[in-house]
Amino acid sequence: MYYLGVDLGTSSVKLVLMESDGKIVKTASREYGLSFPKPGWSEQNPEDWFAGFESGIAEIFDGLDKSKLAGISFGGQMHGLVMLDENDKVIRPAILWNDGRTQEECDYLNKTIGREKISSYTANMALTGFTAPKILWVKKHEPENFAKIQKIMLPKDYLAYLLSGVHCTDASDAAGMLLMDVEHKCWSKEMLEICGIKEEQLAKIYDSFEVVGTLTKAMAERLGLPESVKIIAGAGDNAAGAIGTGTTKDGMCIVSLGTSGTVFVACDKFAVDDQNALHMFAHANGKYHLMGCMLSAASSNKWWMDEIIGTKDYAGEQKAITTLGENHVYYLPYLMGERTPHNNPNARGCFIGLTMDTTRADMTQAVLEGVTYALRDSLEIARSLGVKIDRIRATGGGAKSPLWRKMLANIMNVKVDIINSEEGPGYGAAILAAVGCGEYASVEEAADKFITVVDTTEPEAELVAKYEAKYQVFKKLYPALKDSFDAVATV
Ligand code: XUL
Repeated sequence: MYYLGVDLGTSSVKLVLMESDGKIVKTASREYGLSFPKPGWSEQNPEDWFAGFESGIAEIFDGLDKSKLAGISFGGQMHGLVMLDENDKVIRPAILWNDGRTQEECDYLNKTIGREKISSYTANMALTGFTAPKILWVKKHEPENFAKIQKIMLPKDYLAYLLSGVHCTDASDAAGMLLMDVEHKCWSKEMLEICGIKEEQLAKIYDSFEVVGTLTKAMAERLGLPESVKIIAGAGDNAAGAIGTGTTKDGMCIVSLGTSGTVFVACDKFAVDDQNALHMFAHANGKYHLMGCMLSAASSNKWWMDEIIGTKDYAGEQKAITTLGENHVYYLPYLMGERTPHNNPNARGCFIGLTMDTTRADMTQAVLEGVTYALRDSLEIARSLGVKIDRIRATGGGAKSPLWRKMLANIMNVKVDIINSEEGPGYGAAILAAVGCGEYASVEEAADKFITVVDTTEPEAELVAKYEAKYQVFKKLYPALKDSFDAVATV
C-alpha cells in the first residue's frame, strides 16, 4: 500500500509517498509566498497551502495506481492561527509561528497573570509565536474578526479538515498553542477562560497516529482518490521530523536547520524546568519532548544568498570557505526577532567585526556559523538541565551541506549523524499514516525498521577548541546590543 506524508512548511508544501516497507516512491513540492505586512509580522493564506497540496497530488499520482493509497498524514508548521467562521471559511490570513506582534499580550500572560501560573496550566511560558497570545491580539485589535470565530485551527489541521471534514488536531501541535495542558493532553479550562474562547471553538485532540476520518466524497472526487483513504492526525513539523529521523527514544536529540532552527530532545517523562527556558511539548509517539527554537536558521542563509548576494548557487558560495574556526566576522541571526533563548521580538540581525579585508566568503561563513552558535544556545540549555548530548541527528535543508554539518559538529562538540532519508517531517508524517492504518504496531517499530544512520561527522579537538573561544565571544554580543535593539525597533 501507499502512505502519503504532507509536510506543510513555511516556504513550501512537500509531499512524500511511501510504500509499506518504508521505501520512498516519489516526492513533490510546491512553493508559496509569505507576507510581512509590517516589520516582525508574518502571514500566509491558508488557501495557498491547499492549492499547493492539490497541485502536488496531481504530480505524485501521475502514472501511479491511486487505489493503493491507504492513508494521508501531516507534519505542519506549528503555532499558526487559522480562524474559521460559521461556514468554515477562513476569516483572515493565518498569523504564523515567526510573527512577533504579540509582545504586549505575552507580557500580560507572563507578567500580569504570571509565568508560573501560565506554566502550571500549559507547561510553557507565553512566547510571541504561540497561538494563545495571537488570539488575544485578534480580540483586541480585530474585534469584528474575533466575533466571527467558530473554529480555531492550526495550519496542518486546516488541511486535514478540508480533506476529512473533521475538526481535529494532535497533541504535539496543540501543545504549541499555549491552550493545552501538555501533561494530560487536554485543553486547559483556565487558558480558554483567559483567552475568552470556548472549548467548542477548538478541535478535538487526537494522538498523532490516530485516524480522524476518511476523505470526504467531494474531496475524493476532486482529487481523484479513493474515498476509503484514511486521514491520520499527524504532528507539528518538529515532532514529525523527529519521527522521520528515528528520534523516538528518551534523550535522543535532533537539530533541524530549516526555516526555523530547532534543538529537539525526546523525553519519556513529563518535566518542566522552572525557568521555561525550553518548550515542553508532546511528542508524536505519545510521549514528550523538550525544544529550543530559533526563528531564522536556514532562512538566514536563504536571505543572504537570494536577497543580498543574489545567487542560487549555495554550494558554490560555500566552496570559497576554506578555513574554519578563524573567522573574525560574527553574524547575529535575529532577522525575525528571536525565540530561544532571548524571547525578544525586537532583536535584529547584524554583522559584527567587518574590516577592509572582509570577503564575501567570510560573511557567508559568518551567517552559517552565527546560526550554529545560536542553536548551540539551545543545546547548552538542554545540557544545563542534565541532558547529556554528545550525538545529534541533523535534518532540514541546511543539513544537506557537509560544511554546515562540520560546523555543527565542532561548534557543538557532538557527533552529527545523517540518516537514509532527507525528508524529515514528510517522511515522519508518512510513517504516522502507516501506523494509523495498522501497517505497524507503533511509531517506534516503524522508525526502527526504516531509519538508519548513513554518515557521521566527528568533532575535531583542535577545531572544537577554536570554536569554543569564538562561541564565548558570540555569547557576549546579544547582551551588549539588547538595549540598542529595542531602540532600533521602536525609534
Ligand atoms: C517550533 C516552531 C517552528 C515551526 C516551523 O516551535 O515555531 O519550528 O514549527 O515550521
